[in-house]
Amino acid sequence: MVRDRLPRGESVLEVGCGPGSFAEDVVGGDLVCLDPIPEMLRVAKARVDPKRAARGDSVVEFVEGVAEELPFEDASFDAVCSLFSFRDWYDKRAGLAEVLRVLRPGGTVVIVDPAKMNRLHGVLGWLWMRLWVGAYARLLFRRSDHPWKWLAKTYQSFGTTRDYVRMLEEVGFVDVRAKVVFPGMATIWQASSP
Ligand SMILES: C[S@@+](CC[C@H](N)C(=O)[O-])C[C@H]1O[C@@H](n2cnc3c(N)ncnc32)[C@H](O)[C@@H]1O
Repeated sequence: MVRDRLPRGESVLEVGCGPGSFAEDVVGGDLVCLDPIPEMLRVAKARVDPKRAARGDSVVEFVEGVAEELPFEDASFDAVCSLFSFRDWYDKRAGLAEVLRVLRPGGTVVIVDPAKMNRLHGVLGWLWMRLWVGAYARLLFRRSDHPWKWLAKTYQSFGTTRDYVRMLEEVGFVDVRAKVVFPGMATIWQASSP
């Protein structure tokens, strides 16, 4: 669903590549994977490089960095994607402005993350994360400070689908579209650089 939205055979940047579970199946083109955590990049490299080599695709460039300060020249990529990382960006507007800067004119950005449908959905979702997911993690792992608590925290501060359509437009993207794939769990935002 996301790979189909990326131009084939072009230069693609994935921001927040994590362990490479999306990147491993990006076929062809020049692929750059960025993440702030060196261990993530190490795991992603071990996973992605052999798959690409087997397909005869070019070697991936793995880069340590954050969305808010992308270490690339202006107009370096035909497409930028980010899956389940956007919610973690500490300054989303700055990150989107950086994405726009490194995209070539007419380039594509595709972002996937679980957005709220509206404010009421946000409150109900927060209760679900806080009361059920948090308690479940504490019970299951018998730890009061289980890292899943961060899921509730990032969910709490994350906006609605519409909030990020507006933010993409304000930053300067055009043809901004959003598709709710699964309410509350996955929205795809797609936009172009002018
Ligand atoms: C859930 S993982 C992404 C999974 C990945 N897209 C995949 O398909 O395997 C989220 C990643 O975003 C990264 N991240 C967090 N804050 C970031 C930031 N400000 N800029 C870029 N990446 C960030 C994290 O280090 C983490 O590896």
